[in-house]
Amino acid sequence: MIVRQKLYEGKAKILYATDDPEVLLTYFKDDATAFNAQKRGSIEGKGAINCAISSHLFRVLEAGGIPTHFVAQVSTNEMQVRAVKIVPLEVVVRNIAAGSLCRETGLPIGTVLPKPLVEFYYKNDSLGDPLLTRDRLFLLELATPKQVDHLQTLALRINDILTAFFQDCGITLVDFKLEFGIDRNGQLILADEISPDTCRLWNQTEDDPTKRVLDKDRFRHDLGNVEAAYQQVLERVLNSKL
Ligand code: TMP
Ligand code: ASP
Repeated sequence: MIVRQKLYEGKAKILYATDDPEVLLTYFKDDATAFNAQKRGSIEGKGAINCAISSHLFRVLEAGGIPTHFVAQVSTNEMQVRAVKIVPLEVVVRNIAAGSLCRETGLPIGTVLPKPLVEFYYKNDSLGDPLLTRDRLFLLELATPKQVDHLQTLALRINDILTAFFQDCGITLVDFKLEFGIDRNGQLILADEISPDTCRLWNQTEDDPTKRVLDKDRFRHDLGNVEAAYQQVLERVLNSKL
């Protein structure tokens, strides 16, 4: 496969065209940002770790019947993916209250939700990725009602698979963010990445609210030992028998 021009550089990844118009190459960077890029830094080895974790989780999801853009991991930091048109929505699934849900509703952190909450945010950096209502989503024509229902169903199926997978790793999947794309056949498929950058992951053998955090919250809130936490997630994911 010949790598051609850079198509897009995001905060954590770079997307390249290849000689196959159906296939793109994603390069995972060590760069980290938070709070809409107001906080910037670098996490040593993050690109390789997130590439390996994402590749593994995409395979797990494919085996569970979820269509994804994953084609192959081709080097430590590079993944081949199918070309899709990204839907400008961030689909967040929450099992336990944390982050913006606590900030915006007053729910105490750690509250187990009676059922998973699926939320849609507008993927728009200049607006700060605002939370959408269903009607605002339709007003902006970001997706059709049928697509929203399908996204909701897929997000909940993905949550079931990932919750069980991380449970086997001794990790609680608190919440996570997904992005979807539309392929050339008009099918919605899971895109982007699934990694400690995009999930909240709590170590089940730690009760201490600071020590248990194995995800990007360590970077967001300066909790230290960020690389070690990401590395621990990678080791547990690769050692899983599921
Ligand atoms: P939030 O509580 O800050 O809304 O985040 C919910 C989940 O989404 C959490 O697992 C982190 C993830 N997330 C991203 O992947 N990218 C983002 O830009 C934000 C704000 C959250
Ligand atoms: N990735 C997002 C950003 O920089 C936010 C986050 O993950 O907290 O802006």
